[in-house]
Amino acid sequence: MTTPVRLHQRIDWNSPDQQARLREELAAGLLAVKAAIAPKFFYDPLGSRLFDAITALPEYYPTRTEAEIFTTRLPEIHRALGEGCTLIDLGAASCTKAGKLFHAGIVPARYVAVDISVDFLREALHTLKRELPAIDMMGVGLDFTADFELPADVPAERRMFFYPGSSIGNFSPADALAFLKRLAAQLDGEGGLLIGVDLIKDKALLDAAYDDALGVTAAFNRNLLLHVNTQLGADFRLADWAHVAFYDIEQQRIEMHLEARRKLVVTWPGGQRRFAAGECIHTENSYKYSPEGFGALLAAAGFGDIEMWTDTRGWFALFFARPARLA
Ligand code: AVI
Repeated sequence: MTTPVRLHQRIDWNSPDQQARLREELAAGLLAVKAAIAPKFFYDPLGSRLFDAITALPEYYPTRTEAEIFTTRLPEIHRALGEGCTLIDLGAASCTKAGKLFHAGIVPARYVAVDISVDFLREALHTLKRELPAIDMMGVGLDFTADFELPADVPAERRMFFYPGSSIGNFSPADALAFLKRLAAQLDGEGGLLIGVDLIKDKALLDAAYDDALGVTAAFNRNLLLHVNTQLGADFRLADWAHVAFYDIEQQRIEMHLEARRKLVVTWPGGQRRFAAGECIHTENSYKYSPEGFGALLAAAGFGDIEMWTDTRGWFALFFARPARLA
């Protein structure tokens, strides 16, 4: 007999309180001197599908490059994770990356899939459980980018955080440091962190990865406005907004913006914002790191024993780190 998948829901995105908080956050961002909308608003059901399509684009190298590292470094990853760990997948979504590890023979004692969308997790975990009934699986619906606590039935020993895909790049370096510190604080001496990081590279490659010829990234960026229309009751018209994405060499980050094609006014219940032609809404940063730079960030967050594996072109890195031993 196999144990069923357990699900814990720590956050209810549809509660009236949560909805009111999201509306306040959106209105504050739109009214800021430099208008901004947080990247978490990309991921409505259509946005999540568009992101999946991005990962298949010829220009968007991170997903397939990371997958190449997983394939070529399987023995090293297996040795680093060891036997009997609790694998905690942050932002698990469809659980695809963890599922690939399990099918390749890297099998934890327990799998804890964490995501803000528990409905999406439920489906994915039930499918994975059918394929791999021997693994103890649990889903947790929470916002792990804020201060978080895992349910009491997640053992404190041998926790391995799994954070692939270079999502760490969507935090500012200061927020990334605070986030990594929070992870380090939840690990015992036998725990660790397996994290994917996109590396600094040629500007032309980076520009193309975030402004592809098919226009899928443009659709992903502009879909944000449809989501804001639904969430806030705003009246954005897609035809008025252009996708802008570029790599800023100085700041070592991709910036994504939506640029007003003409002078216009956007309104929503209780508010409005005037935009001049050419004025932008900042929608995302995606920081790129050097291997040394990310190693230093891990060390500053309290990690030691750092290992790193890259692909043959040196475009992407997978880091494994344990909490630094206290002297
Ligand atoms: C989710 N995140 C790691 C992606 C990135 O590359 O920063 C989001 C993305 N934005 C545009 N394309 C992909």
